[in-house]
Amino acid sequence: MPISLASLLYPLAVALATLPCAQATQYSLAKEYYGSSFFDAWTFYNYYDNLTNGDTIFVSAQNASADKLAYVDPTTSHAFIRVDNFTTVPYNDKRNSVRITSNDSYAVGSLWVTDMYHVPYGCSVWPSWWSQAVQWPQGGEIDTFEGVNLQTNNQMSLHTETGCTQVLPNETSTMVTSTNCSYAANENQGCVVIDPSLASFGAGFASASGGAFVTEFATTGISIWYFPRSQIPSTLSNNESTIDTTTFGIPVGNWPATGCNIQELFQPQQLIFDITLCGDFAGNSAIFNQTCTGVCYNDYVLGPPSGYDNAYFEVGYVRVFSAAGISTVVSPSTSASGSAAGTTSNPSTQGNSASGLGGKYASVVASLFAAIGGLGVMLL
Ligand SMILES: *[C@@H]1O[C@H](CO)[C@@H](O)[C@H](O)[C@H]1NC(C)=O
Ligand SMILES: *[C@@H]1O[C@H](CO)[C@@H](O)[C@H](O)[C@H]1NC(C)=O
Ligand SMILES: *[C@@H]1O[C@H](CO)[C@@H](O)[C@H](O)[C@H]1NC(C)=O
Ligand SMILES: *[C@@H]1O[C@H](CO)[C@@H](O)[C@H](O)[C@H]1NC(C)=O
Ligand SMILES: *[C@@H]1O[C@H](CO)[C@@H](O)[C@H](O)[C@H]1NC(C)=O
Ligand SMILES: *[C@@H]1O[C@H](CO)[C@@H](O)[C@H](O)[C@H]1NC(C)=O
Ligand SMILES: *[C@@H]1O[C@H](CO)[C@@H](O)[C@H](O)[C@H]1NC(C)=O
Ligand SMILES: *[C@@H]1O[C@H](CO)[C@@H](O)[C@H](O)[C@H]1NC(C)=O
Repeated sequence: MPISLASLLYPLAVALATLPCAQATQYSLAKEYYGSSFFDAWTFYNYYDNLTNGDTIFVSAQNASADKLAYVDPTTSHAFIRVDNFTTVPYNDKRNSVRITSNDSYAVGSLWVTDMYHVPYGCSVWPSWWSQAVQWPQGGEIDTFEGVNLQTNNQMSLHTETGCTQVLPNETSTMVTSTNCSYAANENQGCVVIDPSLASFGAGFASASGGAFVTEFATTGISIWYFPRSQIPSTLSNNESTIDTTTFGIPVGNWPATGCNIQELFQPQQLIFDITLCGDFAGNSAIFNQTCTGVCYNDYVLGPPSGYDNAYFEVGYVRVFSAAGISTVVSPSTSASGSAAGTTSNPSTQGNSASGLGGKYASVVASLFAAIGGLGVMLL
């Protein structure tokens, strides 16, 4: 495999990202996904869900556009990402949906903001807005937004190699499900924090016209803010090109570096939107029947397509910021243009899912690093 320019530049980006700005709270706009070009710099999965056992085919960019499963509304400039709600699926088949991964990765020292008006919900529906490194679990995963079926609250989490725990968070949520972020703990549950706001997921989210999620990926820790539309800070609603996280108040979820060495356990993250159906999380019968009745696949995936009328993201924009004065954007291959890009491997087919079963990619070396990481935490 040829050495890519990105892999040569990456150590430089990390050095720049981590040396002068360890305590960064000031960020400058680095990349925007917005309007008619929203979908240009993402890779469509173009294969069935072989990651979380969902009953979906994640369509190609071409099919997504042709079937209006991924499109930008010209009037509002909002991007829609949706499940097929017009096809009756025959037994044994899967329903079409979308999974997109950003071509660029974002190193430690990044912050991303997503403005959404609607998030997918409904029985069998499992949406997520999240990120992971190409190598999983070694490079870590940050789940900013996730939930299933008719749940009413967003759940946030990290998934890492062993050695990351949530210790002394400064966060507004008091609903902490689990604190061990290791993929090997509790069947890769992650270290989960629930947003107590009923406007953070499902119909409650949509009826408040949604809001903005902010994910800060800093050496000092990972933080997530959620602002319902009426409370979006003016720096965000005014589309300012620099932001200061100290003006955002206490985040709803926070994983300080005290219990989780971010630089050691996280690599540059690719951003992902996906909606799957049933599968390991939504389709788990004990979870499914908490909010829905019947059988996930038979009664919903095969059922009336109108069951998916609410299974869509409506996104105002995604903006990525870098700590002031540096760039944290890692391109897959800066030199690739036109057909050259086709020779790079599809990054979204590597790694694992928001809640996939881990372990496959862990190597002996990674386990060794994890053991050292765990020791480091104990010594702190
Ligand atoms: C993103 O990657 C996909 C293929 O993976 C490619 O088709 C698309 O052109 C890329 N977008 C940009 C802006 O490079
Ligand atoms: C999923 O399918 C893709 C495309 O065939 C393949 O590259 C990838 O290894 C598969 N992933 C898993 C976890 O099976
Ligand atoms: C795209 O659509 C074509 C024509 O309907 C179909 O043959 C193909 O399987 C679809 N591909 C995906 C990944 O959905
Ligand atoms: C987290 O889980 C891993 C895997 O089960 C375990 O090795 C580690 O000791 C746990 N960490 C803590 C702090 O309990
Ligand atoms: C935000 O401002 C940038 C320029 O800084 C512009 O390119 C972009 O279109 C604006 N986005 C929105 C959502 O208005
Ligand atoms: C928690 O975060 C807030 C907002 O950034 C800050 O004012 C406060 O000092 C922090 N508290 C602790 C205990 O660190
Ligand atoms: C929900 O599913 C669990 C596990 O399959 C089962 O034990 C339980 O009886 C179910 N509850 C209802 C209300 O169907
Ligand atoms: C699919 O759902 C949308 C609302 O999200 C609705 O406008 C549209 O009419 C539905 N499509 C069909 C074929 O019912």
